[in-house]
Amino acid sequence: MNLSFWKNKKVFVTGHTGFKGSWLSLWLAKLGAEVTGYALKPPTNPSLFDVAAIKELIISMEGDIRNYENLKNTMQQVQPEIVIHMAAQPLVRKSYKYPILTYETNVMGTVNLLEAVRTIGNIKSVVNVTTDKCYENREWIWGYRENEPMGGYDPYSNSKGCSELVTAAYRNSFFSSKTYEKHKTAIATARAGNVIGGGDWAEDRLIPDCLKSLLNGEPVNIRSPYAIRPWQHVLEPLSGYLTLAEKLYNEGSEYAEGWNFGPDGKDIRNVEWIVKYICSQLKNGSSYRIENKIHLHENKYLNLDCTKAKFKLHWQPKWHLQEALDKTIEWAKAYEKNADMREVCLKQICEYEK
Ligand SMILES: NC(=O)c1ccc[n+]([C@@H]2O[C@H](COP(=O)([O-])OP(=O)(O)OC[C@H]3O[C@@H](n4cnc5c(N)ncnc54)[C@H](O)[C@@H]3O)[C@@H](O)[C@H]2O)c1
Repeated sequence: MNLSFWKNKKVFVTGHTGFKGSWLSLWLAKLGAEVTGYALKPPTNPSLFDVAAIKELIISMEGDIRNYENLKNTMQQVQPEIVIHMAAQPLVRKSYKYPILTYETNVMGTVNLLEAVRTIGNIKSVVNVTTDKCYENREWIWGYRENEPMGGYDPYSNSKGCSELVTAAYRNSFFSSKTYEKHKTAIATARAGNVIGGGDWAEDRLIPDCLKSLLNGEPVNIRSPYAIRPWQHVLEPLSGYLTLAEKLYNEGSEYAEGWNFGPDGKDIRNVEWIVKYICSQLKNGSSYRIENKIHLHENKYLNLDCTKAKFKLHWQPKWHLQEALDKTIEWAKAYEKNADMREVCLKQICEYEK
């Protein structure tokens, strides 16, 4: 990552009140970027957005990604050079309950964003954040490569597969590499795995659920102990998005395609391993139990092949899984002690940058 690149860049971040959006906004503000965020209110209470007082560091606009006119007018006022799109309904289990909301937000939200980019013009670099779940899952152990088919079993995963397809259609139709000299806009998608880190209070996510129970002295309930996911610290994919956005800005359509950002092979662990590790680190008699209920479908294996990002972007994960978990536990303990959470986040960002 070229940290100095971001100084004074005008960056429009959607979903800035969320978990990843708050970390990204803080990091960009630290690097000297002029950040405008567009999102609904923080999705949880407490939220990282509030506890790290992100609002003081950026221009924060409350708006719905489903409202095209409002989104376009806001972007028109801001005139950003770079857009990072993260606003979404990001939870698998919630998508079973609210499929229409999930598709409206994740698919039409992407259409609205790209249409606004097309109408406004002069935006050089756009990164649409989707997920590792966008691929057609074959329940195999090998990592998916960027050229494999889109799919998605549940509404969330499928809506992100659709968001990928929408992006590809906009790129082919309006932002093609053949006409790049005319439009000068490069659009890519980023597919990252399950992220962990301090400040995530989302429902039905393993680490937040785990820390919540254990810090309250209760055993953790786990649903799918043998499910395997590409876990990584939140700063890992964010560094991938920033590297990619910079390449799109400087080198244009050559990088305008899909990119995977995931952990190294030895960090692909199952749920039970993660929970055992956290229990061992908290050392307070922590325990867990496996729920026997029948659960909604969730894929058993999910893994990403990140050869392309390593080879062409020179991006690679820095923190192994244990380190990522240690940083998350360190953050949760500091929060319990009422520490200054913006300072804790900034300290971890500085450690990551080194
Ligand atoms: N957290 C993960 O493990 C993970 C993994 C892969 C991909 N992702 C993707 O990363 C992005 C961010 O995820 P997160 O974990 O930070 O989610 P989050 O729920 O913490 O944040 C979601 C953000 O989107 C905003 N939002 C939701 N609906 C909106 C709407 N209608 N209009 C405007 N804003 C709206 C929320 O206000 C919030 O700012 C999402 O696109 C998600 O799909 C997350």
